[in-house]
Amino acid sequence: MDDKGINQILNWLACAGVSDVIHDNEAVAQREKEEITSLEQLRKVIEHIDSPLKDCALNMVFGTGNTKADILLLGEAPGAEEDKQGIPFVGQSGQLLDKMLAAVGLDRSLVYITNILPWRPPGNRTPSNQEIDIFRPYVLKHISLINPKVIVCLGGTATKALLQTTQGIMQLRGKPTHISAIDAVIIPTFHPAYLLRSPSQKREAWCDFLKIKQLSLPK
Ligand code: URA
Repeated sequence: MDDKGINQILNWLACAGVSDVIHDNEAVAQREKEEITSLEQLRKVIEHIDSPLKDCALNMVFGTGNTKADILLLGEAPGAEEDKQGIPFVGQSGQLLDKMLAAVGLDRSLVYITNILPWRPPGNRTPSNQEIDIFRPYVLKHISLINPKVIVCLGGTATKALLQTTQGIMQLRGKPTHISAIDAVIIPTFHPAYLLRSPSQKREAWCDFLKIKQLSLPK
C-alpha cells in the first residue's frame, strides 16, 4: 500500500473516533514470516533484522548443505571460523561433526545445517533468551522450508530453544520427540564442542547418530 492509501485509512480511523493507532511490530513480523516462501526470501528478511549481534559479526551464517535433505542439524550459533567464512560448522566442532556423520555413513551432501542464531555472539557467549525469542520463529520457518524428516538439535541451547523446555541435554539426548509447530521427529544430541571436551561421551553420540540415520530412512 502507498502513503496515500495509508493516509486514507488513518483519516477514516480518525473519523471513526480512533485516536491512537498501535503499530504492532509482532503482527507485522508474523505477517512477514507467513509470506516467506523460499530460502532466498528468508535469507533477505533475516539480513534486515535489526540486531546488535550484527555490529560485532563479520558475516551472517545462514545455512549449508542439501536443501532437500531428510536430516536437518541445528546448532547454537556461529563461532569465530564460521563468522569468518559465513558457513555453519567449519571450525573444530565442524570437523568433528563431519567425522560423526561419516561414522554412520552420512556426509554434508545428505544433510542441511543451520543454527539458532545467524550471527556470532561476541566472545562466543551463549545466546540470551531474548535473542532466542527473536530468532526462533525464523528457525521454524527455515525448518519448514527444508521440510526434513528428522531434526537433530546439537547441544543444550539448540534443544532448549527449539523444544522450549528447561530440561537439560543429559535427560533429553537420544530421545525422539515432537513439537506441534513442526512435522518432523526431533532428536537432541551432544554438541560437538562438548564432545571435544568430553570425548568419553562420543559413544553415546554415535548411538544417537545411528538412530538419526535409521529414522531418516524410508519406512
Ligand atoms: N557451533 C555451533 O553451534 N554452530 C556453528 O556453526 C559452529 C559452532
